[in-house]
Amino acid sequence: MSRSAVMREAAGIALSILMVVGVSCLIYLALLFFRMEHVMLLYLVPVLVAALRWGTLPAVTAAIAGIAAAAFLFYPPIYDLRVSNPDQIVDLVLFVIVAVVTGQLGVIARKAKMRAESENLREALIGSVSHELSSPLASIVGSASVLAQSPAIRQDNQLSGLVAVIRKESERLNGDIQNLLDATKITHEGIRPKWQWVDPEDIVNGAFARKRERAVERHVVFAVADDLPLVYTDPTLVESALGQLIENALKYSPPHTPITISAEQDDGRIAIRIRDEGVGLTRDETDRIFVRFYRSPRHAGNVTGSGLGLWITRSLIAACGGTVEASSAGPQQGTTMTLKLPIKSQPGRDEGEDD
Ligand SMILES: Nc1ncnc2c1ncn2[C@@H]1O[C@H](COP(=O)(O)OP(=O)(O)OP(=O)(O)O)[C@@H](O)[C@H]1O
Ligand SMILES: [Mg+2]
Repeated sequence: MSRSAVMREAAGIALSILMVVGVSCLIYLALLFFRMEHVMLLYLVPVLVAALRWGTLPAVTAAIAGIAAAAFLFYPPIYDLRVSNPDQIVDLVLFVIVAVVTGQLGVIARKAKMRAESENLREALIGSVSHELSSPLASIVGSASVLAQSPAIRQDNQLSGLVAVIRKESERLNGDIQNLLDATKITHEGIRPKWQWVDPEDIVNGAFARKRERAVERHVVFAVADDLPLVYTDPTLVESALGQLIENALKYSPPHTPITISAEQDDGRIAIRIRDEGVGLTRDETDRIFVRFYRSPRHAGNVTGSGLGLWITRSLIAACGGTVEASSAGPQQGTTMTLKLPIKSQPGRDEGEDD
């Protein structure tokens, strides 16, 4: 335990004893004017305050000091720690039981409060650091793209290789920062979908367009069923969620393997599936990949990421009334991510696409 923690604990114990002295004085004064049967109950106040503010040891100290003070000052024989009346012995035993429970509850409440405070602090730090980083990163990404196009750089293989690395790494970092900003926003502000009628095929195309550059060297197969009904949803949110799934399929499968993006009606809903032939999922991973910040230890060293993508995906799709599930036949057997959106009764002919 650090020196400052010991000092804090000692201060808590001293203040607990002071509170018991204060309560004793109050009871003493009150007894001059009123008859009070169960003075012991008042000693629960220092126990609760000590448990909430300073923790277990000060709470135990307050309980022991309370018992000693009551026995010494108020229970006959007065000014003696012994207690002769059996009723008052019962009082003391009951006090010990209630003090233990109260103290425990107080300590649990205190820990929960401290956890919530540190969680808030972490969120605030993540939010502000990501915010500060996002503008300079956008400038680096933009400048690297311009540099990559300049004739002087294109003629020099070594320089163009270096510019490509700057561009790729800054884009990756930009994606991580964007995920952090999105996660902070979802946690603090929630998600407010802008509902409209859209063709699922437009959503698939829109999502793929966001990742087209990342997928240039990949074989992507589209299998969108004809005549799918319109869905009533927020296309920007669904495209962003699908973008995360496409990004994962690209990241967690070897470059020579295909990725299939399909859309069809399934069980009264629109099912959009992204299938890859990559590293697959273990049973444990299938259960945990949607948890915030979870990353499989299998990729910790070789594939970069923040573990936020799927948590964001599920939050966005849940806000649109849909679901996202993962399935895999096992490690190295590929992964299928299935996003389902509800089908509502279709808009009349006169109704436009926007609601
Ligand atoms: N298509 C996939 N195949 C195999 N594992 C996957 C796939 N998609 C996700 N995972 C596993 O789920 C974890 C969580 O994915 P998630 O998208 O949330 O985070 P990430 O990709 O690690 O980072 P980022 O925040 O950049 O998206 C991944 O680290 C990976 O272990
Ligand atoms: Mg991801």
